[in-house]
Amino acid sequence: MLITRVAFFRRGTQKMNEMKLIITGATKGIGKSIALLLAARGYHLLLCARTGEDLNALHTEITVKHPDCTVEIYPADLAQRSDRERLISQISEAHTYVDVLINNAGIYLPGNLLEEDAELIEKSLRLNLLAPYYLSRSLFPLLKSSSRPQIINIGSVGGLKPLKGGGTYSITKYAMKGLSDNLRLELKEFGIKVTTIHPGYTWSDSWKGADLPRERLMEPTDVAKVVCCALDLGKSAVLEEVVLRPVMGEFD
Ligand SMILES: NC(=O)c1ccc[n+]([C@@H]2O[C@H](COP(=O)([O-])OP(=O)(O)OC[C@H]3O[C@@H](n4cnc5c(N)ncnc54)[C@H](OP(=O)(O)O)[C@@H]3O)[C@@H](O)[C@H]2O)c1
Repeated sequence: MLITRVAFFRRGTQKMNEMKLIITGATKGIGKSIALLLAARGYHLLLCARTGEDLNALHTEITVKHPDCTVEIYPADLAQRSDRERLISQISEAHTYVDVLINNAGIYLPGNLLEEDAELIEKSLRLNLLAPYYLSRSLFPLLKSSSRPQIINIGSVGGLKPLKGGGTYSITKYAMKGLSDNLRLELKEFGIKVTTIHPGYTWSDSWKGADLPRERLMEPTDVAKVVCCALDLGKSAVLEEVVLRPVMGEFD
């Protein structure tokens, strides 16, 4: 789905040297928790998701709670090349630097590798791997212009071990770990840190309707706190990888 709605943002309110972060998949679950925690720090946020209404609602929520926080919203389907390119050119036209890219948007499509429709892996790869790949490449010039550049990728424990009934998702998250590790190697000479967070089961809309005790899942704000840890380290240290699990571990 191509969304042509123009991004709403305020030019002219940007302060010199303020911390600017892009968060993909910012309107729900982990992404929303990250956005709310970073908004409380007064950062300048560039938020992306497909649904414009949800972005508008989040924009209102943040600006009511944190009037000093600058928020820009960018509706885009990151699985679509045309939307991705539009997002990148809008951000590149409006900004001379971006400090942090948080690649959070992702989908979990259940299935078994030998039985599922092969479109599942194509669809999952487009969002879970190709979107962070292209965003990292295209936003490199803006990141390079930052004095504290970072890329934070939200992976999964499924990127570290096979997942029963979620093979395709697991493959894409292994690939995301590979993307992070290789970006870290290539980007260190520019001082760009690359972090992968591998969460286990975390409460979000994607778990709605599942017959599971809530206490077996982590809260999305726990993942957001790890993002803050990665941001708070000194210039010479990078949080390369973090595995974060519910205390009782996975279900299987
Ligand atoms: N929840 C878990 O148990 C868990 C565990 C490990 C890792 N993770 C990872 O954590 C990340 C967030 O998961 P979540 O459970 O918080 O997700 P979620 O609640 O399903 O929210 C997904 C967010 O991404 C946006 N989004 C979805 N498809 C998009 C697209 N094609 N283009 C742009 N934005 C898109 C959604 O908004 P729109 O629908 O409006 O686009 C929403 O803001 C994912 O990468 C996931 O793999 C989650």
